[in-house]
Amino acid sequence: MSTILVCDDNILVAEQYAYDLRRLGDHQVQVVGSGAAALDVLSRDAVDCVVLDLEMPGMDGFGVLQAMRERGLAVPVIVYTGTGSYDRCADAIRRGASAFIDKEEPVERVAREIELAIERRRMLDEIAMLRRYADDESALLGSSPAMRAFKDAIARVAPIPSAVLIMGESGSGKELVAREVHRLGANPREPFVAVNCAALPEHLVESELFGHERGAFSGAIAQRKGAFESAGRGTLFLDEIGDLPLAAQAKLLRVLEERVVVRLGSTRGVAVPARVVAATNRDLDADVRSDRFRKDLYFRLNVHILRVPPLRDRLSDLPDLVARLLATTCDRFRCRPKRLGTSVLPLLMAYDWRQNNVRELRNVVERMVIASDGDTIGPEHVPLEVRDEGASRVAAPASIGRTFLERKAEAERQIIIAALDRHDWHVTRAAQDLELADHASLLKIMRRHGLTRSSAA
Ligand SMILES: Nc1ncnc2c1ncn2[C@@H]1O[C@H](COP(=O)(O)OP(=O)(O)OP(=O)(O)O)[C@@H](O)[C@H]1O
Ligand SMILES: [Mg+2]
Repeated sequence: MSTILVCDDNILVAEQYAYDLRRLGDHQVQVVGSGAAALDVLSRDAVDCVVLDLEMPGMDGFGVLQAMRERGLAVPVIVYTGTGSYDRCADAIRRGASAFIDKEEPVERVAREIELAIERRRMLDEIAMLRRYADDESALLGSSPAMRAFKDAIARVAPIPSAVLIMGESGSGKELVAREVHRLGANPREPFVAVNCAALPEHLVESELFGHERGAFSGAIAQRKGAFESAGRGTLFLDEIGDLPLAAQAKLLRVLEERVVVRLGSTRGVAVPARVVAATNRDLDADVRSDRFRKDLYFRLNVHILRVPPLRDRLSDLPDLVARLLATTCDRFRCRPKRLGTSVLPLLMAYDWRQNNVRELRNVVERMVIASDGDTIGPEHVPLEVRDEGASRVAAPASIGRTFLERKAEAERQIIIAALDRHDWHVTRAAQDLELADHASLLKIMRRHGLTRSSAA
């Protein structure tokens, strides 16, 4: 069913259109008598198409078209004039109207124009969405067992409308995961609205999330929809949820329970169907214990948890990630595609990637691209800290001079990580693969190397 807004200062004409349109199709039709009222509805409700009279006192149809453009309202508009002036209609098309109709025409044609305009809008949205995914340099990469299991977990929770909590270290791809949940969710064509709870000053958090009425506080010069409302039936992504102030946590909980927001300064509730996806790199359990995070909100959010595997637990994804990052970085810098010399990948594989995961890898690739003049990136272009740590772990020429025992221990560490990675960090299976006596033996070796599975998909 589509929602149509008819705007005419002659309310009888508008009502007649509304009556006919309801009769002809699966349309919900709203009627308003002025340009200002039309804009009000457009900024509040999800409208699929506007039927607009060009001649109105006060703000006329041209004014409405212009205001819509300024506010980025991409709803298709079909115009008509009481005078039947073709020139004015043509002018309106130049200013962004989708089509024009004649008041004398049978309403069936009007309905047809509306359907065409809505269909065209849907197709444009879909193209924009497909393009976003096709262009997205960062669509979730990785086919390691850990990543495959993780992608399965995403696919399982994505269609469920309840809240999802994404946990993972800094730079491990939480935002990408949130977008993936949206893409595979029930309404991928609806908006994906991201709010970084850590980046907002405390006094603005609530207005950002829930919206405000004009004059709700000093500085609220115009009414504003909050992120919940903007997300419509799409996804609201609450990044760094652990940094949400306690007062806002209480309100968020209420909204999640009642699915209704009340803008600041208002008493009227607005239904908010958006699915909520939250992310954090904090230990929310600990935050709950120290009263930094509300326990009831945590329980509300942690029904479905997606734990992003850190890069060091899925090193077999590294070659693909580097290849992709290298291609996109060269593309972005408009330089010729570069390739990695053979000794570079082992250095990158041996580095710990503990600080910033894939983001750190991306930065390292960027630095290597800048550091190298030719087409090939050699070990001399690898940033020093990576090279040093990598070299001290790879049994490469640089490590000659280290003791035999150190090199043996490092080789052991690499073998263990590779086996665990192959088996999705399933200790028993990895132990069998390595032909160790039992999983306890492997656990002992892991402890010796300080290896723990920091993720479980
Ligand atoms: N699996 C992946 N495949 C491809 N790119 C990835 C992957 N994971 C992360 N990235 C890239 O790494 C960078 C960091 O990812 P993102 O911003 O999603 O991380 P984050 O977990 O939200 O980090 P922070 O905790 O700092 O907010 C982005 O450029 C993203 O595109
Ligand atoms: Mg992030």
